[in-house]
Parts: sequence; structure tokens; C-alpha cells
Amino acid sequence: MKKIIVNGGKRLSGEISVSGSKNAALPIIFACILTKGISEIENLPDIGDVKIALSLLESFGALIEREGNKTMIDTRRLRYVDPDVDLVKKIRASTYLLGACLSRFGRCPVMSFGGCNFSLRPIDMHIDAFMKLGARMDGDALVCDSPHGSVIEFRKASVGATVNAVLLAATADGETVISGCAVEPHIDSLISFLNSCGASITRHDREIRISGRSLHGGSISVIGDMIEAGSYLALSLMTDGNVRILKSPLFDMKASLDAFSSLGAKICFSDGSLYGSIDDGRYFSVTTAPYPGFPTDLQPLLAPLMAHQRGGEITDNVWPTRFGYLSSLSPFGVKSTVNDNRALIFKSEIRNGISSAPDLRGGMAALICALAAEGQSEIYSAETILRGYEGLEEKLCALGADIKIKKL
Ligand code: EPU
Repeated sequence: MKKIIVNGGKRLSGEISVSGSKNAALPIIFACILTKGISEIENLPDIGDVKIALSLLESFGALIEREGNKTMIDTRRLRYVDPDVDLVKKIRASTYLLGACLSRFGRCPVMSFGGCNFSLRPIDMHIDAFMKLGARMDGDALVCDSPHGSVIEFRKASVGATVNAVLLAATADGETVISGCAVEPHIDSLISFLNSCGASITRHDREIRISGRSLHGGSISVIGDMIEAGSYLALSLMTDGNVRILKSPLFDMKASLDAFSSLGAKICFSDGSLYGSIDDGRYFSVTTAPYPGFPTDLQPLLAPLMAHQRGGEITDNVWPTRFGYLSSLSPFGVKSTVNDNRALIFKSEIRNGISSAPDLRGGMAALICALAAEGQSEIYSAETILRGYEGLEEKLCALGADIKIKKL
């Protein structure tokens, strides 16, 4: 267990660089299991979730080498082993083992997959897609001797189900058409990576067409993390700071930046950097939706800012119960109530406090409160935040923050 000790109340300023996107990196890492070759991945973020994903690949015999900003993954000689359940239950993206292992080894146990515990996280759509592609249940494992192309229609946009269907269909025999897909930027980067490995995949709007192929190693540079960029923008606005966020994926952030503007922030761009200021905030309501809508992963980061300004409302249509984090913000003075999938955030005096990271983004929201509040604060379970934010201590200290991460 780790804790973060924060001496807050400082105006943060300077430059911060956005790292590779967690949710883009993870599908690409697991996609390497499909390939027989050496893949070269640039800009892989050095975060907890990526380390666990790489360990899972190593358990199948993948050879992994990091050289500066490049990671080589050699998957020529993999053999099946039962995935390590302790690693699997730490990250949500371990669900991608299902599609990847079915493709490479023809089997994968259905396990208790981990990740942020803010809601029920069903995988019925993943399983339905695998069945359409020729898989069946054998005890508590999925098996698939000869995956074949199919027509898959998703009833709602799911990132995980889209990734898994693409993983199995990429090497299945014949043509697959998947409709109702998620269209997050990380879906397109997975498609680009697989195509660099010899796959034949196209996406038009919410439809993906795949012609199955055998795959060799490929290459890609991981796109910038839109949620990390949005988190640092929220942090800068909260501390009345002047932080320039370099390498922000501005195009992917349209809905996020519109939300910050509606809250009263003045958002500026210059020489590829993003920065913002806020003089007079406004009461603001935001509703999450699958991309290109406002991302659910950023809603916890808006809550401190709403409380610090004039209050607001958050409706989450993606994870209707993703509000458990609000109780971790109350030690910092954030007042809120929750009704079904809607939270009301009241204008509040932010103060220092002691709290714990309930999940990745909720933990970052607590850290933002601690950085804005005068005096010393402590946040326990800091490793939850480090699952998704690269170089957190170094990046924040370089902006003038006084934080220390301590091992307990
Ligand atoms: N859903 C189903 N059945 C399924 C799959 C999903 O009903 O079989 C529902 C879910 O209950 C939810 C909606 O579909 O209501 C969307 O879930 P999705 O499958 O898109 O979520 P995920 O793939 O499990 C990823 C991210 C999450 C992010 C969501 C939504 C990764 C590793 N995780 O999860 O990221 O919140 O998409 O954008 O990519 C985070 O980074 O903090 C995080 C939680």
C-alpha cells in the first residue's frame, strides 16, 4: 500500500507532457498474443496496468525488451498456460485475454476480471460475440477450435466487447461484420496496429469489417491519453494555476473541452499545448456518453471543479452507479447527493483532509482536491492512481506541487 502526502494550496505552473493512453496501450499489448513475430510499440506508458499486462504476456513466453521509448514484444514462441488469477483480477483489460487466447490457443478460462469497482461490469456481449465466431463454453472455459467469420450486432457501444470481437475475428476464417461498435480513438489505434500486423480491418462509423488473416509482428506509436490531459487541465483550473499541457490529443478531446468551456473555463491552444483559466465559473450540467460524447472517465475529475465553482450536475449514462468516489471527496469538503445515475455537486469550500483512492479516476479527483486545499492532506491506496498516471510524482513536482508518495 502507498499513500500520497500533499502540502496543498500552491498555484501550479509550468509544462507537463501527456503520456501514451492507458486504454489504447492495453488492447495493443494483448493483441500481440495474436501475432507470430516481433512488434515494436512506441510511447507505451509506464503505469501499473501496463506492467501487469506485460507480465501476463510474459507468462505465455513473450520476450519483452524496453529501449528508451520503444518496447519490443516477441510473441513467436508462445505456449498456453492458465493465466495468473492474481494478475487477472488487478486490471479490467485482462478481459482481452479472452479474445487473444481464443485466437492463439483456442481456449481461455472465464475468470474474475479486475479493474475499477464502480459498477457491475458484465461481459455478456463479449461472450455472445465469441459464440457467433464459433466459440463454446467447456466448463468454466471458452474454447474455439476453428473460429469463423460472422455477423455481430452489438445492442450498445462497448469498448471491451468491440476489442474482444475484433481480436478473435482478426484471425478467424472468413469475413466478419460487427455493427453497433464503440468508436473511441483507441478502437482505431487497435485497428491500425492489427493492420500493421497484416490484418484486413476497416471501420466506417459504428461498423467494422474484418477479413481474417494470420498475423506477423507490427508497429504503432500509442496515442496520447485524453483522460490524463483532461485530468491535468482540471488540476490547473482547480489550483488557479498556469499549466501548459503538451502533446494533448486535442481532436479526441472535443467533448471534454466543450464541457470545461461550459463550466466557465477559457481554454487556449498554442504551439500544440493546451491551457486554461477560469475567473467566474458557471453552474453546469454534464451527461456522459460513449465517444464522441463526454467521457465517463473524466466525470470524476469535473466534480471537484464544480464544487470549487458554482456547483453542477453529473448524469452518467455509461456507468450509472459511478459515484462511489464522491464519498472520498467529502473529507475535502465536497458536498454532493446522488439519485440514480445523477449526482448533484454543491458549491463547497475545499479544505485539506485524509482520504483514500476508491478507484483510478476517483483517486485522481481526491488528489486534485488535496492539491487545491491549503494545508496537509493524505491519500491512501495511491497505487490505484498509479495504475493509470505515468510519472505522477515527478510530473506534479515539476509544476511546483509539494507531494510525496510513501510506501507503507
Ligand atoms: N456492457 C454490457 N455488457 C458487456 C459489456 C459492457 O452491458 O458485455 C455495458 C457496461 O455495463 C457499460 C457499457 O456497456 O454500461 C460500456 O462499457 P464498456 O464495455 O465500454 O467498458 P469497458 O470496456 O469495461 C472501458 C475502459 C473504462 C471506461 C469504459 C467506458 C478500458 C480498460 N477500460 O471499459 O476505463 O470507463 O471503457 O468508456 O479500456 C478508466 O480508464 O478509468 C476506465 C474505467
